[in-house]
Amino acid sequence: MDSLENNDGGTLVPPLQDGSPLLEMRAVTKRFGGIAALNSVDFSILEGEIHGLVGENGAGKSTMMKIIAGVHADFEGEMFVAGQPAQFHSARDALKAGIGMVHQELSIVPDLSVAENVFLGHQPVRAGGIIDWGYMNRTAREQIASLGLEIDPTKRMGSLPVGLQQLVELSRVLFSGARIIILDEPTSALSPPEVARLFDALRQLRAQGRSIIFISHFLDDVLEISDRVTVFRNGHKVATTPAAELTKDEVIAQMIGRGSAEMTMGEETELCGDDSHPVVVEVRGIGDGMALKDVSLSLRRGEITGVYGFMGCGQIELSRALFGKGNLRSGQVFLEGSPVRFRTTATARRAGIAYVPENRRMMLFRTEPVFKNVSIAILDRIARLVLRPKEEQRITGNHIEDLQIRPPRTDIALGNLSGGNQQKVALAKWLTHLPKALILVEPTRGMDVGAKEDVIRIVKSLRDKGVAILVLSTEPETILTLADRVTVMKKGLVAREFTTGHLEKADLLAAA
Ligand SMILES: Nc1ncnc2c1ncn2[C@@H]1O[C@H](COP(=O)(O)OP(=O)(O)O)[C@@H](O)[C@H]1O
Ligand SMILES: [Mg+2]
Repeated sequence: MDSLENNDGGTLVPPLQDGSPLLEMRAVTKRFGGIAALNSVDFSILEGEIHGLVGENGAGKSTMMKIIAGVHADFEGEMFVAGQPAQFHSARDALKAGIGMVHQELSIVPDLSVAENVFLGHQPVRAGGIIDWGYMNRTAREQIASLGLEIDPTKRMGSLPVGLQQLVELSRVLFSGARIIILDEPTSALSPPEVARLFDALRQLRAQGRSIIFISHFLDDVLEISDRVTVFRNGHKVATTPAAELTKDEVIAQMIGRGSAEMTMGEETELCGDDSHPVVVEVRGIGDGMALKDVSLSLRRGEITGVYGFMGCGQIELSRALFGKGNLRSGQVFLEGSPVRFRTTATARRAGIAYVPENRRMMLFRTEPVFKNVSIAILDRIARLVLRPKEEQRITGNHIEDLQIRPPRTDIALGNLSGGNQQKVALAKWLTHLPKALILVEPTRGMDVGAKEDVIRIVKSLRDKGVAILVLSTEPETILTLADRVTVMKKGLVAREFTTGHLEKADLLAAA
């Protein structure tokens, strides 16, 4: 197809005749500070193939892709491109060899125009070194149009919604002339019609003999678009299988290793949602016109409601909306039966809603001592206007005992504590001053086991004191460890609700 021509008229290597892999990785091991993110992994790609790569968070997918794309030059193992040993020292080296990657994190330049972003790093120049703006804008417009979109190429990139930015970034790599195109979770911010257009473009590229590696958590998408699917688990390759021979349940089983002896905490739970518990916060059909489409759920007194979903499913927007940070376009929130509208976080807090975001730095004062951070929620009770450090320190000291905050001192600056201990401090302040509802985003991500257990204990004790708790997480383990009832979100909507009975990881993954 004309519209899929290369930006630079790219010189493609002639096709492989014998069906041998276009790219082959042998026994790849990659360590970060002694910990192996990849453990002797073999992985190969055929010419003209769409190859799905899936695995849970942390399985090693992005690490393998960054090695292939020249981002991590330092690894153990071998790499062959078209049968020849290859060694890349940079992403530029890989690009020269025909390997392009769209990273999981957007890498657009918001202050440049759409066309400049499409041509980033290889702007067309005319004689005399003048940038050929006419050609650039025309070509960018055509390429974006072939993804079914109409975007003014002279517009500032930063002025576009995230979904469109992602498509512009995709078009940069899709049309770079790369022979191997790596897409690391490109669809999380895309709407269904945008995904359909992307898939059309991928199929056209495949028809030209290009190879695509497609990473996504959306297993239905992966099975639909891929010729073969590889599953990684915990730094190992589990299998590579033709997509036509796989079901979603089989992929999930490969991802989580069901049946193996490695059942650990948070693999399964017995839910105990009880509809006779009074509703504290009711969310009815809320949406922000963007990532959050239409969500209803109830937080009940003395219960932990878990919201599970992949990155980009709208759960962050949901949590922000409940704490007066979002921009609600539709729906209604009720607090103890009365409609409320939190326009600011201060009004939400005054109404009795507490919020601990994943990025705890936003809520804590890292240079202030621990006792200040704890007592900030209870200052009203200690003294209206006059601060009384002695009293603050005494109350905080009791909590530090309870919560096993280490080191057990109230006077050191909070920033000197580990992440897990900072999280305990963030929760500690709600123990004395019980909120009506508590919203926790990724409450245990990145913590060591000990800190995790402490945080879980604190959250459950807040529940047992009657707080209505909402836990939002992209980690199935976190949800299965904490939740009494679960709502699964998908692309801004409620996909499934689980109230009672047995629930395991595979159920969550299948619903999301
Ligand atoms: N730059 C890095 N430094 C330290 N650890 C890393 C780095 N990149 C990845 N890791 C670790 O390697 C493992 C695999 O990560 P990643 O390849 O990003 O997984 P996936 O993409 O499958 O979610 C994880 O445990 C992650 O924490
Ligand atoms: Mg990744």
